[in-house]
Amino acid sequence: MKNHVKYHIGYYPAPGQMEYTWMKKDHIEKAPAWCSVDLRDGNQALIVPMTLEEKIDYFKLLVDIGFKEIEVGFPAASETEYEFLRKLIEEDLIPDDVTVQVLTQARSHIIEETFEALKGIKRAVVHLYNSTSFAQRQQVFRAGKDEIIEIARHGATMVKQLAAKYPESDFTFEYSPESFTGTEMDFAAEICNVVIDIWKPTPEKKVIINLPATVEMSMPHVFANQVEYMCANLHDRENLIISLHPHNDRGCAVAAAELGILAGGDRIEGTLFGNGERTGNVDIVTLAMNLFSHGVDPQLNFANMPQIVTEYEKFTDLKVNPRQPYAGALVFAAFSGSHQDAIAKGMNWVKEKNPDKWTVPYLPIDPHDVSREYDADVIRINSQSGKGGVAYVLEQNYGFDLPQAMRAEIGYMMKDISDKAHEELSPAGIYEAFAKEYINDFAPIDITHATFSHFSDTKMEDSDSMTVKMRVVIENQVYNLEGKGNGRLDAVANGLRQTGYHFDYKFITYSEHAISADSNSKAAAYVCIEGPDGSKYWGVGTHADIILASVNALVSALNRMNKKIHFVN
Ligand code: KIV
Ligand code: ZN
Repeated sequence: MKNHVKYHIGYYPAPGQMEYTWMKKDHIEKAPAWCSVDLRDGNQALIVPMTLEEKIDYFKLLVDIGFKEIEVGFPAASETEYEFLRKLIEEDLIPDDVTVQVLTQARSHIIEETFEALKGIKRAVVHLYNSTSFAQRQQVFRAGKDEIIEIARHGATMVKQLAAKYPESDFTFEYSPESFTGTEMDFAAEICNVVIDIWKPTPEKKVIINLPATVEMSMPHVFANQVEYMCANLHDRENLIISLHPHNDRGCAVAAAELGILAGGDRIEGTLFGNGERTGNVDIVTLAMNLFSHGVDPQLNFANMPQIVTEYEKFTDLKVNPRQPYAGALVFAAFSGSHQDAIAKGMNWVKEKNPDKWTVPYLPIDPHDVSREYDADVIRINSQSGKGGVAYVLEQNYGFDLPQAMRAEIGYMMKDISDKAHEELSPAGIYEAFAKEYINDFAPIDITHATFSHFSDTKMEDSDSMTVKMRVVIENQVYNLEGKGNGRLDAVANGLRQTGYHFDYKFITYSEHAISADSNSKAAAYVCIEGPDGSKYWGVGTHADIILASVNALVSALNRMNKKIHFVN
């Protein structure tokens, strides 16, 4: 790509040298004030803007999440926005602890119409803006700095005068030097100070100065420097609320907002999931959840994230990306074997130790905190997955605590199935494949009945103390056999040898447990034998009776071996 030469190296005004302090801080101590601009900036960027009814429902969603300030539109700019504001006021839909905000350009008739639209409101933020950047002054307004200051002065004066005519309403004033990030910093401070001097903020009546990255132009640390510069150079800083309004053109809006808060920002204007013009506004969900994951109460409630995603997608007709932090369908999913293994171990550690802080590897937050499930959302099995994940799914969903030595074999089997099918395997699919291959395989050898008796000869050390009487069916032939051995499985094996078939194997290992996930409380048994070919063959038996589960496991292992060795035709 050669065309990079077409672009400035840093077409943004960085403030001059000063002692910046924001980079000395390593965390944000408290949540900023949040203002949702979904219904204005977000809505104006939709392919099909929301209807009046949708806006009302979206407003309710924002209120439920906990927003206390909501920009509801540009009432002088469109009939729907005007009607929406009137409906909120006339039908008393604004909760007492919520303040709506309206946007107005710094032009006389627009300011007048804005106040008319606000008639009867108890409280509102009136947000005045005009554009201040070098490019806008040069190309759009073709005006000098003085003329741009004049627009702001005139707008601020009118806002103050008109507000005084509505004593029944409590207005807060907000000013944005639109295109702030492309504005020379001394000029941005100068124009804001003109507005501040007109509005004369007090501790009781603070003024909001909003610093929009109308277009994100710089790396986030430069934005933070700009914010800190403004905080140091604005009049009456203690009576100001410094608001940040980052857009996401370089994909760094969240970082810019966080560094901007360290640099003095008190308030954030943004949208759910970063909807907004072009690449969007800053994503308030990510910002809030980032605070949450650092132990700070975000003062917004995303506990019901899947529901919020569903409603957002319905109203905006946009899709939340599956990789969207905290909210996307895949953001807690671990497909890779090593990740699954670490997560499974981490989750077991949590179960065992019940620690009061969350530190599970690969899971920045507990998925339960945003109503996501470990089993369905976290451990996902595909051809990248390994033994740990498969074992976790079988244990969590079906109660099979596979012996360590068996896990690799099952992991490879599932990998192979997924690879061939080019598909992710669901927990049900995993169980089905596991059960089909290993559990209670009764062909061709089937022990249909088995009764054990036990005797103990106190004088003899190596006596065969276990006897089994069993009915065995092999290839439609029924055998009633008796076998003796030093244990149950040994007795069964010796009994089976009387059939004349060549049961040539070495017993390797046996284990058993109750199946906790199953309400019909069964037992599971695992047997591993080594065949004459040197291969290991696992079998799994289940039964309400633990003894019969072990018999079934041995039979399953033998039948699996027979598929390769063919000692029964
Ligand atoms: O992005 C922007 O600059 C705006 C202003 C109107 C604040 O949305
Ligand atoms: Zn904006």
